[in-house]
Amino acid sequence: MGAASDILRFTNDPKKLVHSRCNRLASDVRVWQSRTMSSPNPLHLAQPLTLPNGIVLKNRIGKAPLTEGLADALNRATERHVRLYGRWAAGGAAVVVTGNVQIDRRYLERPGNVVIDGNGGLDALRAYAQAGTANGTQLWMQINHPGRQAPRRVCEQPVAPSAVPLALPESAFAHPRAMTADEVADVPRRFAEAARIAREAGFTGVQVHAAHGYLLSQFLTPLVNRREDRWGGDIASRASLLLEVVRAVRTATAPDFCISVKLNSSDFQQGGFSNEECLMVVKWLGEASVDLIEISGGNYEKPAMMGSGAKESTVRREAYFLDYARLIKQAATVPVMLTGGFRTLAAMEAALEEGACDMIGLGRPMCVDTDLPNRLLNGDTDRAEAYEERIVPAKAGLGWFCLQLIAHGDGREPDRALTGDDAIRGYVENEEKTAAALQGRQGRSD
Ligand SMILES: Cc1cc2nc3c(=O)[nH]c(=O)nc-3n(C[C@H](O)[C@H](O)[C@H](O)COP(=O)(O)O)c2cc1C
Repeated sequence: MGAASDILRFTNDPKKLVHSRCNRLASDVRVWQSRTMSSPNPLHLAQPLTLPNGIVLKNRIGKAPLTEGLADALNRATERHVRLYGRWAAGGAAVVVTGNVQIDRRYLERPGNVVIDGNGGLDALRAYAQAGTANGTQLWMQINHPGRQAPRRVCEQPVAPSAVPLALPESAFAHPRAMTADEVADVPRRFAEAARIAREAGFTGVQVHAAHGYLLSQFLTPLVNRREDRWGGDIASRASLLLEVVRAVRTATAPDFCISVKLNSSDFQQGGFSNEECLMVVKWLGEASVDLIEISGGNYEKPAMMGSGAKESTVRREAYFLDYARLIKQAATVPVMLTGGFRTLAAMEAALEEGACDMIGLGRPMCVDTDLPNRLLNGDTDRAEAYEERIVPAKAGLGWFCLQLIAHGDGREPDRALTGDDAIRGYVENEEKTAAALQGRQGRSD
């Protein structure tokens, strides 16, 4: 009992857990707590998980971040977020990570992004947070800067660590310019301010987006980061911006506010951010008071996160990054969520059972079936629908899933029979309309 109460007192003081020397003890605490707090439901997916900061997740399912494009012409949250996140919160996932929210309105990922940069809209953000935290749900805002992956439709002059263009049509993405030292130094401040506002609005955490080729991911890869100042060079220097962001976010929030990082297991590009480098960054993130790392992979040039380029056997086995997750788990001192390709309960259970990850991230299935976690946990189904397999042409996939999110936001039912051609048309129309509203607003304010 003495040891147990010591452990409890220790976990009640999360600041102490942030120090690297404590990671071993923190891990023992998690094992101890998981044993004593287990769910009567025998599924691994149903077991609670205690994060390093003492927050308990009610099960092992995370709704992966999915860009919604539902903001108004001032890039503020709307009623449509409230409806969509209300459905996800009711759906039973322990953690719902939002679609990426931008920290600087000059650099959008798409026209309907929410932006947090002092543009007001706090009441709408509060309503959004209230809906998304119902049902004991942890709601984490994914905060992001797209860097060179800001489309021309919303950004004529993107920035990047170095002026390296995307190997994609220039008509879609303008040539980036290298950020000045002052601009780089401003990045942690902006992430921290967005996190502070997220907390003030009622979000229970943030996820720093350092994957999929966005700005922090660009800093990690020598292919885009050719800087000769303190932010470029070896992996320690390339990772220093991410680590400064995490430190600034922690300082601007509180010990019980969850901080997650989404990180690539690898960029899967010759000479890019490698798995060996990923393992080093995972270790440093553990020392930097992060509560959970979500593992994915790839970027716009190499969309491995959607299974592109994966072997047929990997897609069939599910979990595109499972082999990497096994290595990452060995290096990690904080819980790991693995996202990408999970569709069957059997594969999710197996990954948790063997300890390849601590949480299962679900993306595309959640665009349609917002109650999937409940149905998996209750035994109503043993699989997620692999909608992506029946979308023709396959390139319509992203638009198809985005339109399902819009349907939820509008209070409609998802359209499972939507054709690929209609999805392309509908998605392009939606993006153009939203971009025009944005430009109209900018035009008026000029
Ligand atoms: C419509 C859509 C939007 C997405 N938006 C984001 C995003 O905002 N941030 C992010 O990190 N990943 C985003 N992703 C990637 C997912 O989080 C996830 O990594 C990917 O879908 C693979 O998981 P799945 O096989 O379960 O779908 C998005 C994926 C889709 C399909």
